[in-house]
Amino acid sequence: MKVVVAGLGLMGQAYVDRLSSQGFNVLPYARRSGVAGEVAKRINSRPATLEDMKHRDTVLVVAGWDDDYLLWLAELVKDGESIVVNTSTVSPQASMKAGEIVGRERYVEAPVAAGPRVARDGKLPVIVAYWNSEAWNKARPVVEALAATIIEAGEPPSAMVVKLAFNNILFTLVAGIADSFKLLAAWKVDKELLKKLMESTWMRILIERYWDRAWGKAKTHFRLAGAVKDLALFIEAARRRGAPVPASAGALNEYLDALLECDENVDYTSVIRCTYERVARNAREIR
Ligand SMILES: NC(=O)c1ccc[n+]([C@@H]2O[C@H](COP(=O)([O-])OP(=O)(O)OC[C@H]3O[C@@H](n4cnc5c(N)ncnc54)[C@H](OP(=O)(O)O)[C@@H]3O)[C@@H](O)[C@H]2O)c1
Repeated sequence: MKVVVAGLGLMGQAYVDRLSSQGFNVLPYARRSGVAGEVAKRINSRPATLEDMKHRDTVLVVAGWDDDYLLWLAELVKDGESIVVNTSTVSPQASMKAGEIVGRERYVEAPVAAGPRVARDGKLPVIVAYWNSEAWNKARPVVEALAATIIEAGEPPSAMVVKLAFNNILFTLVAGIADSFKLLAAWKVDKELLKKLMESTWMRILIERYWDRAWGKAKTHFRLAGAVKDLALFIEAARRRGAPVPASAGALNEYLDALLECDENVDYTSVIRCTYERVARNAREIR
């Protein structure tokens, strides 16, 4: 089965590796010059042409980063027959629009709820929504090769709404942890004490999961800029339908604040370290 993976960032490259290891004929596509060639070489393939994206391939897995990239890709492939599987996290309205551009009969919304390591193992949780079950049946083998769990959500943009809600939990949780450690920095109290206390309760899983990543001791799974993007998408999607989400707005500020200290390409959990270090530097004497 011939698959184009469009967008070769952290996730796109993981999809390429996983699908080619599972026997799919994968053609990579990237906007950046040279990147598709390098990735293609790694898997003994070749970069996808525009004609591949439109016609020759049964499924196009879109791993783009934002609304504009998705809509641009949708315009690019609109006169073809390939099934467009959108795995990226975008706004519900962009997902609907992409479906209208390529045609509802060719569009499957399939956001994923874990990172590149899990994708390489083929263990992703994926939530899918589609208008046309034939399109989904054609795309299903590709999604199944990436997924351990597939949750069906009805028609678009239900899957995207659920995905944004899921990410909001993740990012507000980590922003809350960042605020807690800032209090220790402000009062010049050893951060290891809170770490130890968390480790002695059910919160141990948070330390196990986030501590090394937060302090820069693991590679980037999901960029800090991505947390800003997803929280902004979540807030805008809620605002459009009149749902107030003040905790998420606070979390977004937390990640924007981290960008004053850290590069946007660090792992998003670095929000803990980046905001901590700024407060630690400026901490006043305890009165
Ligand atoms: N990473 C995760 O853990 C994760 C988990 C679930 C969902 N997602 C979603 O999956 C989508 C892709 O995420 P991602 O983590 O793969 O994002 P990413 O690494 O930032 O890549 C996103 C896009 O940016 C371009 N890009 C990558 N590196 C770049 C660089 N150094 N300079 C300029 N452009 C670059 C790529 O497009 P071109 O190759 O065409 O240039 C790529 O498609 C997003 O919608 C994200 O929300 C990610």
